[in-house]
Amino acid sequence: MPTRDVWRLRRAGSLDRLSRETEELEAPRSGHARVAVGAVGLNFADLAACLGLYSATPPGAFVPGLEFAGTVEAVGEGAAAVAPGDRVIGLTRFGGYATRVNADARYLHPLPAGWSVAEGAAFPVQAITAWYGISELGACKAGDTVLVQSAAGGVGLNALAILERLGARVVAAVGHHSKVAFLVDHAGLERRQIVVRDRGTFGSQLDEVLRVNRMSGFDLVLDAVAGPFFDPAYRRLRPGGRIVIYGAADLMPSGTRTNWLKLAARYLARPRVDPIQMVSANKSVMGFNLIWLWEQADRLPRAYAGLAPHITRPPHIGRRFAFAEAPAALRYLQSGGSIGKVVLEV
Ligand SMILES: NC(=O)c1ccc[n+]([C@@H]2O[C@H](COP(=O)([O-])OP(=O)(O)OC[C@H]3O[C@@H](n4cnc5c(N)ncnc54)[C@H](OP(=O)(O)O)[C@@H]3O)[C@@H](O)[C@H]2O)c1
Repeated sequence: MPTRDVWRLRRAGSLDRLSRETEELEAPRSGHARVAVGAVGLNFADLAACLGLYSATPPGAFVPGLEFAGTVEAVGEGAAAVAPGDRVIGLTRFGGYATRVNADARYLHPLPAGWSVAEGAAFPVQAITAWYGISELGACKAGDTVLVQSAAGGVGLNALAILERLGARVVAAVGHHSKVAFLVDHAGLERRQIVVRDRGTFGSQLDEVLRVNRMSGFDLVLDAVAGPFFDPAYRRLRPGGRIVIYGAADLMPSGTRTNWLKLAARYLARPRVDPIQMVSANKSVMGFNLIWLWEQADRLPRAYAGLAPHITRPPHIGRRFAFAEAPAALRYLQSGGSIGKVVLEV
């Protein structure tokens, strides 16, 4: 029986509980394929799961990780779509922080020609998230004005690429000045399109960026930060405007353990909207979490097909860590300073 290494948490709640373990891996069961993992993509959700803040986390011990790329080693009965030797991108509902994975073959996708395994592992979760928010829920069209929160992050850069192809007019918000030069030099934005978020004055920052760019408000806001930044953006939606909310990074604790008191205070101060007022204001708020669509595997080909025209280059990998450095990689992602994707290389 082949062996593998995994990063496992006996119990969610602290990054310090992550431990590396070696174990045997049984043969892939029906409809599954064994993949030798070359790289693992990190997601903000991994952090939330490790810290006990993610409702989709399995109870008890679990291996984090939602995406990977590598080479198929063996296939179970009925997994005819893949064959040993295929280079694939994979989605998994947890279990991705592993050097080998038995994956449901419906969630494997060919690695695009010319892409490295690290680029493949960096792709599906964040690209599908951006596409789903912009196209499926956001119904974005050419000329729409769009505010993208965390624009230099993994989802954010995918969103910028899709919005550029769609011909939308973009305002990008980031949490730190260190990300501005990257957005100008590598994402093709002009400085006047970028806001470095300030907790106390975000509303007037948005007014200024709208004025400078001759925009009257936003048709679409992509927000995974929430907290005090939601309401100022909601107020600046144009009639017919939509906020698509898919995360709450503002609740992310800064330490390796969760400070529940501080978290509770922020949670109690979370944004609220009045649905009756939404009718007269002609504004919509939509939320999603793709992991709850996991069972709907037949939606995945549509997502890859929807994304295909927008993907002109591989995702930007901001930083690579060795598989052995998973805890350090998660702490780096947690710092809020990362740009693009963070990957583990096996
Ligand atoms: N609903 C879904 O299905 C789904 C799927 C994938 C991702 N997401 C969400 O989308 C967001 C982006 O995900 P990602 O994986 O691409 O991550 P990312 O954007 O690469 O990194 C997260 C970013 O959150 C921002 N942030 C705001 N407050 C923070 C805080 N208190 N601590 C740390 N970072 C903070 C930081 O950027 P700035 O400070 O520059 O804003 C940070 O870089 C996350 O909130 C994630 O949970 C949702």
